[in-house]
Amino acid sequence: MTGNRNTPRTLVVRRMPFTFEDDISVQWNAARPEWSYMVNGASLTMPYLEPYLIRTMKKVLPQLQDPALIQEVKDYIGQEAQHYQQHRKFNDIIKSKGYDQIEALEKQMLDEFSYLEQNKSLKFNLAYAAGFESMALTLGHWLIKQRAYLFGGSDSRVASLILWHFVEEIEHKCAAFDAYQAAYGQYWHRLYGTFFAAIHIMKFSRRGYIIMMKKDGEWGNIRSRINVIKYNLRFLAGIAPKLLHSMLPSHHPTDIDDPQWSKEWLKVHKKHDAELAHLDTNNLMTPIGTRFS
Ligand SMILES: [Fe+2]
Ligand SMILES: [Fe+2]
Repeated sequence: MTGNRNTPRTLVVRRMPFTFEDDISVQWNAARPEWSYMVNGASLTMPYLEPYLIRTMKKVLPQLQDPALIQEVKDYIGQEAQHYQQHRKFNDIIKSKGYDQIEALEKQMLDEFSYLEQNKSLKFNLAYAAGFESMALTLGHWLIKQRAYLFGGSDSRVASLILWHFVEEIEHKCAAFDAYQAAYGQYWHRLYGTFFAAIHIMKFSRRGYIIMMKKDGEWGNIRSRINVIKYNLRFLAGIAPKLLHSMLPSHHPTDIDDPQWSKEWLKVHKKHDAELAHLDTNNLMTPIGTRFS
């Protein structure tokens, strides 16, 4: 079993002052419409995935002994609750644009997560949580590294939501992993959970963006389809090295150093949460520390 490497960590539950208004476009990154749909598809999964992660982590709490880890898991639950509530507000705007089939997709997600909870062991569900968090950590690193490419010039309200979410995914990278290690610790199960969670959530995200792109006439457009493949390849190539590292038996999330940008974000957030909720997407590469000092 992996040792305790500078964990548990102290987490902060933040209530960000985002403004989600009806004028947010489905193609909130006008220069990258397919990327916008792909992010929207992922966002649709959050109000189903994250409550499932929360319920799973609540169930493991009685098995944990270390008071600091128990506190970390409670704070993790607080952060995830904020994530899905903010995503739900954004999703409501997307849904208000008239994508009728999203309702059926949401029912599928609700049913599948409740199936997993009712028919699979807590060990499986916790391995799913730890596995999903491994992917979220690597995705967070990629989003931050590529922030100018992926979010440059886009609608600040959406870019700020996604970047906030993944700054916190990086911040709470150890919570589910350490809870799984403390309660079960079996390597092969954790590996299985990582594969299962990654494929499961990508499946639903993909269904979501296909619904939107079909309705908007983008799915039949050859250039759009090529761009979707291009973004998917870029995403997979971007997350692969760290995701593969997370699959090693000796891996611990603290082996992956946090990006400088996310560290700066955390440092300035208390004083500058309004600015962080409305990032200047034309200046994403400027170090946060120099802008909000
Ligand atoms: Fe989250
Ligand atoms: Fe998370």
